[in-house]
Amino acid sequence: MMSVKIYFEEYGSPKVLQQADETVAEPGTGEVTIVNRAISVNPVDWKVVAGYRKEHRPVQFPAVPGNETAGVIEAVGPGVEGFSVGDEVIWYGFTGAYRAQANVQASALFPKPANIDFEQAASLPVAGGTAYSAVHQIGIGIGDTVLIHGAAGGVGSAAVQIATALGARVIGTASEANHPYLASIGAEPVRYGDGLVERVRALGPITASIDAFGGAASVAATVQLVPDLSRAVTAVTDEHSTTAGIAAVVAAADRLAAVVKLAEQGTLRFTIAERIPLADAAKAFELSHAGHLRGKIILIP
Ligand SMILES: NC(=O)c1ccc[n+]([C@@H]2O[C@H](COP(=O)([O-])OP(=O)(O)OC[C@H]3O[C@@H](n4cnc5c(N)ncnc54)[C@H](OP(=O)(O)O)[C@@H]3O)[C@@H](O)[C@H]2O)c1
Repeated sequence: MMSVKIYFEEYGSPKVLQQADETVAEPGTGEVTIVNRAISVNPVDWKVVAGYRKEHRPVQFPAVPGNETAGVIEAVGPGVEGFSVGDEVIWYGFTGAYRAQANVQASALFPKPANIDFEQAASLPVAGGTAYSAVHQIGIGIGDTVLIHGAAGGVGSAAVQIATALGARVIGTASEANHPYLASIGAEPVRYGDGLVERVRALGPITASIDAFGGAASVAATVQLVPDLSRAVTAVTDEHSTTAGIAAVVAAADRLAAVVKLAEQGTLRFTIAERIPLADAAKAFELSHAGHLRGKIILIP
């Protein structure tokens, strides 16, 4: 079977991305061939390509970016149980997503519920899983008023929906263009930037915080607004969060199963900001890097 992939042979800007045809062999033991229908783009994709992770987790060149896809099983290799040709599935890994078709380990697959589409399904593991982990790590529930920094992005918008579903009041930061969107998913919007602490204080006391943006200003606001910093967590660990003693989000073991269920129930929905052909992955990187997304970017193979 002929397929196409986006790959890189050196770390760098989106310019290092290249496209090539590739032959997909018969799936090996424990593998299935998946035809991807939607590939989700996350900031970690361009961070890996830029080499930001190379100290802790270097890639082997040539490498294919991307963590998560949703598609249909085309062939099943020896020793695979529980999956059949035609099954709709979600794949989650570290790299390798930016492909039209791929052989993947069946152990890295999750069944896709029939009532969510491929774009929603592909968006669940990273943004959904991180948001779910953050919300549960600090025990968000009824009685909480949670400040979510970067509430309109992939992680932030999922955290808004998961926290409100648990009965919390949510105040979310975003640029003004995204305020109606935040209100539509259940958050009270506030503008980030100078005066953030005063604007949030005017809405009432904060009991917990999830940072899906990071940096000095978000951390400073969290420190001033959250009385007990054990109830603050960040998806963007940096020198500011580390100095303040704000915990990094730890991936919850049950996160994938949990977010698939929340999506199936209609509790968690992603807004798709952009649909971009796989061949234009560099454009997707530029948009993600610009950092003002409402929801998710999906690559269409
Ligand atoms: N630790 C983990 O496991 C993990 C997992 C997933 C993601 N992450 C990290 O979490 C971060 C967010 O990921 P994502 O996928 O949600 O990104 P995203 O979809 O690109 O969202 C970024 C959001 O940041 C907002 N933003 C921009 N400038 C801001 C500012 N000055 N203050 C507050 N918010 C601002 C934007 O809102 P406006 O458009 O309204 O400006 C945008 O919605 C990334 O750094 C990513 O690498 C970490």
